[in-house]
Amino acid sequence: MPFYRSHRCPEPRARLGGLDAVRVGLVALASPLLFSARALADDAASTFDTGIFSGVSTPAIQIQTYSLGVVAICAAIFVVVVGFGAWTVIRFRRRDEDDDREPPQIYGSNSLELAWTVIPLVIVFILALVTARAIVELQLDKRPAGWLAVTAVGHQWWWEFQYPEYGITTANELHIPVNRPGARRPTFLTLESEDVIHSFWIPRLAGKTDIIPNRTNHLWFEPLQTGLYVGQCSEYCGTQHANMLLRVYVHSPTDFERWVREQQRDAVSDPRVADGRSVFLETACINCHTVRGTVATGQFGPDLTHLMSRQTLGAGVGTLDAKTLRAWVLNPDHLKPGVRMPAMGVEGESLDQLVSYLLSLK
Ligand code: CUA
Repeated sequence: MPFYRSHRCPEPRARLGGLDAVRVGLVALASPLLFSARALADDAASTFDTGIFSGVSTPAIQIQTYSLGVVAICAAIFVVVVGFGAWTVIRFRRRDEDDDREPPQIYGSNSLELAWTVIPLVIVFILALVTARAIVELQLDKRPAGWLAVTAVGHQWWWEFQYPEYGITTANELHIPVNRPGARRPTFLTLESEDVIHSFWIPRLAGKTDIIPNRTNHLWFEPLQTGLYVGQCSEYCGTQHANMLLRVYVHSPTDFERWVREQQRDAVSDPRVADGRSVFLETACINCHTVRGTVATGQFGPDLTHLMSRQTLGAGVGTLDAKTLRAWVLNPDHLKPGVRMPAMGVEGESLDQLVSYLLSLK
């Protein structure tokens, strides 16, 4: 089947048109869809779109189409049943000229019994077929050549993304290539947890999938538009569950390759921040963080090799800039209460030097 024929993806807003009011209402009801705007304030308004009805990727679009189909069938049933009910109430209401005798009794009518047995059976059968078709499509047993493998590890309270074929590890911000007609490049996520149950959810790309300790789950998507898509952990996982935000950057193939090449380089070693580098390497930072090309090979916290290629800090708790970074190193708990990273007691001149070093990790 020509894959993209059923996957046309124009501007979601334009496509929805008159449905916007309904959509806003649904989104307002679905409180998990609304999350901290604070960390996202640096992006354009469109970034905030986490609507489950503005899918831009295969599973999301399928789920959206499927849900609307089921809602349409249920709405039709509702209209017919309520319509008949209302018609009966009005048509057979008590009238003055009634002679108080009962109307003809039709108990055991074969045609009526058949009608209300067969029609629901047909409806349930159609729903089952539609569901089975959606499930088979979303299984995608045959992976197209060139698919991208990413392992996403949920931690309290941040995300680790490993690209095994490229030897890259990054955090909280996933970068993937866009899919174009004739050039599919879906991303297959292997989902693992380091501690408790989390759930991976980017509403515009795919449905949510739980991440369960000692179990490997899978999720795939193939965005059809470049851009930034946001989401968050959607399974309560402790104090900072609400600050376990997700960002997915969908790049053109060339931009993605460039990002990969930049990430593959070892960390820069800028002599101008040698003092800060020493502070970093002589502090317990290195027990938890990796900076590739140095003795820092800790695994407990995010890989900092290309820290400044990211937009946010602390899984979306703040914008990654000098001011926030300084506040974070001084006392992470102040920005993210309960965070596993302790205050390292680095202050004064050492703090300035350390922050300068971290800022150099482009
Ligand atoms: Cu991780 Cu909620």
